[in-house]
Amino acid sequence: MLPLKSAVLSWILAVNCFMLMNLGDSTRVAQEEVDIMEQIATTMGATHWKFNGESCQIEAVRVTTDLPSWFETDVVCNCSIGNDTACHIVAITLKGINLPGVLPPELVKLPYIQKVDFAYNYLSGSIPTEWASTQLNSISVLVNRLSGVIPKELGNITSLTYINLEGNRFSGIIPDELGKLINLKALILSSNQLEGGLPVSLSGLVNLADFRISDNNLSGPIPDFIEKWKQLTKLELHATGLEGPIPLSISLLNMLTDLRISDIKGPMHEFPPLISMTDLERLVLRNCNLSGVIPGYIWKLKTIQTLDVSFNKLIGTIPDDISARSMLKFVFLSGNLLSGDIPASILKNGINVDLSYNNFTWQGPEQPACRQNTNYYINLYKSSAVAGTLKQSEMQNKERRRVGVRRRGLWDKFMTYTQIKSGDGRIIRFY
Ligand SMILES: *[C@@H]1O[C@H](CO)[C@@H](O)[C@H](O)[C@H]1NC(C)=O
Ligand SMILES: *[C@@H]1O[C@H](CO)[C@@H](O)[C@H](O)[C@H]1NC(C)=O
Ligand SMILES: *[C@@H]1O[C@H](CO)[C@@H](O)[C@H](O)[C@H]1NC(C)=O
Ligand SMILES: *[C@@H]1O[C@H](CO)[C@@H](O)[C@H](O)[C@H]1NC(C)=O
Ligand SMILES: *[C@@H]1O[C@H](CO)[C@@H](O)[C@H](O)[C@H]1NC(C)=O
Ligand SMILES: *[C@@H]1O[C@H](CO)[C@@H](O)[C@H](O)[C@H]1NC(C)=O
Repeated sequence: MLPLKSAVLSWILAVNCFMLMNLGDSTRVAQEEVDIMEQIATTMGATHWKFNGESCQIEAVRVTTDLPSWFETDVVCNCSIGNDTACHIVAITLKGINLPGVLPPELVKLPYIQKVDFAYNYLSGSIPTEWASTQLNSISVLVNRLSGVIPKELGNITSLTYINLEGNRFSGIIPDELGKLINLKALILSSNQLEGGLPVSLSGLVNLADFRISDNNLSGPIPDFIEKWKQLTKLELHATGLEGPIPLSISLLNMLTDLRISDIKGPMHEFPPLISMTDLERLVLRNCNLSGVIPGYIWKLKTIQTLDVSFNKLIGTIPDDISARSMLKFVFLSGNLLSGDIPASILKNGINVDLSYNNFTWQGPEQPACRQNTNYYINLYKSSAVAGTLKQSEMQNKERRRVGVRRRGLWDKFMTYTQIKSGDGRIIRFY
């Protein structure tokens, strides 16, 4: 029974192939490309591979282990590209199929390849320098076991718009040459072991919309030149190793919807000027050595859903005129020096509020934060200097934990989360 079952499991029939060619015509994938696809599959560690050049479909790929339900295999062909009548492979997705091999240098032999997605495998080695001569526009090797330096030759693939190297073991410095990738819209390097500073050359990436470099071992300041990334909508700098202060020039990034910075060393400084970021949805400035007050405009942002400024030295009060139309769902102010009353306006249906470890006024049973039968989740543990503020039913299970290393180091040991068990037993966890 068992051998049969595993034999069945190890055969994957591709069902999600995307065909752009006319079946039944004489057009088909050029035979060289069919052969090269087989070499590629072998290099990547598939033990069996069957690709149909007539239909541009992967018919079988065999690996040795069981697969997650969300695996994805796909080859895309385009029959109107190139100077001949054949169809050509333009994209390959081999995702979540536990491939144990290496990235295929043979990719260069597919003259029209544009996109590769090899996420969630066990691929090792580095990025083949041969890829420098391709016209790729998208590379994802998210969560693998790739190591070594990021090859400077990557900077030669100026057609690239998307690079995702997150969740690998790349080390060494970020090569200057990446600054040549002027078409780049996303550069995602989080959860590696990169060192050194952000090279100045990156300031030339003026089309960048998404930059993520969390969980690395970088050094030096968060550079001023991030202001050049005017198209940026997402900036994620959790536990990068980079130092504060957060540069004032960040104020120019008015397209940001998602700004997350945490765990920076460096001098105490005031809340950065974010008034131009009118579309912010998620703002995380956690453990950034911020002092002074939270500017009033932050509470008035129409689109903001998550506000996490915990573990700073912020003072002042929460305004009592937060709009009822506010989209706020998570407000984490834990570990500051905030004071005053907790206004009713922050307590809305379904909102999660963590006010623990502050200097708020003691909340008696008659005050909004402590009313019974409420439909929000509020943590008041040690939120005031007066003893007895613990709201037992909600707070007793609050814990702060270190995150274990999840799948192959995607999360770093420095990242922490807080877990709160609310009155109704719901577990609230946030990073
Ligand atoms: C196929 O390639 C041609 C030529 O580059 C391009 O114009 C067309 O959009 C491509 N087709 C698809 C579906 O990507
Ligand atoms: C067609 O394209 C191939 C590969 O890109 C190239 O080697 C060949 O010289 C081209 N042929 C013509 C007639 O342009
Ligand atoms: C990369 O581009 C530079 C010029 O910008 C060139 O000298 C070098 O040979 C190229 N490297 C590769 C591997 O193509
Ligand atoms: C981080 O980099 C420093 C040098 O800047 C090095 O001494 C240290 O060992 C590195 N830490 C890790 C975890 O790689
Ligand atoms: C925060 O700022 C203070 C004062 O500038 C400084 O003494 C302290 O070391 C800083 N904290 C960190 C974690 O850098
Ligand atoms: C806490 O608030 C009280 C009055 O509300 C104030 O006297 C005290 O200085 C505050 N403590 C800190 C550490 O800010």
